[in-house]
Amino acid sequence: MNWLNLSELENLAKKQIEPTAFDYIASGANDEITLNNNVEAYKKIQLLPRRLSSNANPITKINIIGQDMSYPIIIAPTAFHGLANKKAENATAQAAQQTDTTMVLSTLSNTTIEDAAQSNANMWFQLYIFKDKKITLELIKKAESSNYKALVITIDAPILGKRERDIRNEFHLPNHLSIANLTEHMQEAELGQRKSASSLEQFFKEQLDNSLSWKDIDWLSSQTKLPILLKGILHPDDAKLALQAKVSGIIVSNHGGRQLDTAISTIEALPGIAKIINKEIPLLIDGGIRRGSDILKAIALGADAVLIGRPIIWGLADDGINGIKDVINFLRDELKQSMQLVGCKNINDLTAEIIRKTTNQDT
Ligand SMILES: Cc1cc2nc3c(=O)[nH]c(=O)nc-3n(C[C@H](O)[C@H](O)[C@H](O)COP(=O)(O)O)c2cc1C
Repeated sequence: MNWLNLSELENLAKKQIEPTAFDYIASGANDEITLNNNVEAYKKIQLLPRRLSSNANPITKINIIGQDMSYPIIIAPTAFHGLANKKAENATAQAAQQTDTTMVLSTLSNTTIEDAAQSNANMWFQLYIFKDKKITLELIKKAESSNYKALVITIDAPILGKRERDIRNEFHLPNHLSIANLTEHMQEAELGQRKSASSLEQFFKEQLDNSLSWKDIDWLSSQTKLPILLKGILHPDDAKLALQAKVSGIIVSNHGGRQLDTAISTIEALPGIAKIINKEIPLLIDGGIRRGSDILKAIALGADAVLIGRPIIWGLADDGINGIKDVINFLRDELKQSMQLVGCKNINDLTAEIIRKTTNQDT
């Protein structure tokens, strides 16, 4: 491993990935304010460590929706891993298996649901809801029969955010890649054929249901026995509605700053949502996590676990399966170091007492 931190890894990955694909991965919506704030907001949070707490071997084990995890790090669903490595999501799933990490496979993967499951990793499936309900149901059935352990429903993308880099680059999938789970349904999904504007934007418009409401979540719950987690919650009132909808968990997310620009950074949204959820269901968060201490802060402010997006793709581009394992081990090791330095023996005991309160903090 020839990097010391994730920012160095990003620079290495940039050399490995075709420039328009790198832009697709890196970009946020519009002025990329939320993209940057996700990272910057963590830096502003100050820790208040405790001393002499005798914790030589911090415990990071957690249990989420009945699933044991050896540390609170999950691979976020990100599309098109084939842009970073030819083994695509198969490599990511193998890295997940080898590090005992849960992976969330994107609907827009370059590897099929069935193939990624061959890894025997603990897999969850991220579902976009299609206008054509038959396609949605077929994806659910495939995830169920391939032993996926949860469905993650992304609710922050009724339309695709405006990503100016992709528009400028006329981003489209290279011809050798396809949306593997959808090839039988649509020639249209051959994004490589589209050259106008961002072809992904067109795909969202044509194929995905942009009129979703809480009724659709009820409908989905009636269609599967798998636990459902809602990904993309930022408003405390939506957290209330998620509890009423009896979902199994929620993910505080702004899609890595790729949807609504100037939306609140996720770590700033977390405390208000944690207050509403009040430990009734698992509360996860993603966006801008680049250090083990960021994970510590998220958990202290009420999250049960975090999801990691871009750094996983950087690892994949840098060194395939081993590159992803490096990223996960890096974050896990830094988390343990932070726990020792802050005086925390068990991740499940972390509270906001180790966070310095500021006047404008919504805790
Ligand atoms: C290249 C890329 C593709 C993504 N594709 C999806 C997707 O298909 N489905 C989804 O729910 N979220 C998707 N996301 C959002 C991630 O799941 C996650 O919310 C975000 O990356 C977290 O922020 P981070 O990259 O700063 O860790 C994508 C993000 C990136 C960077």
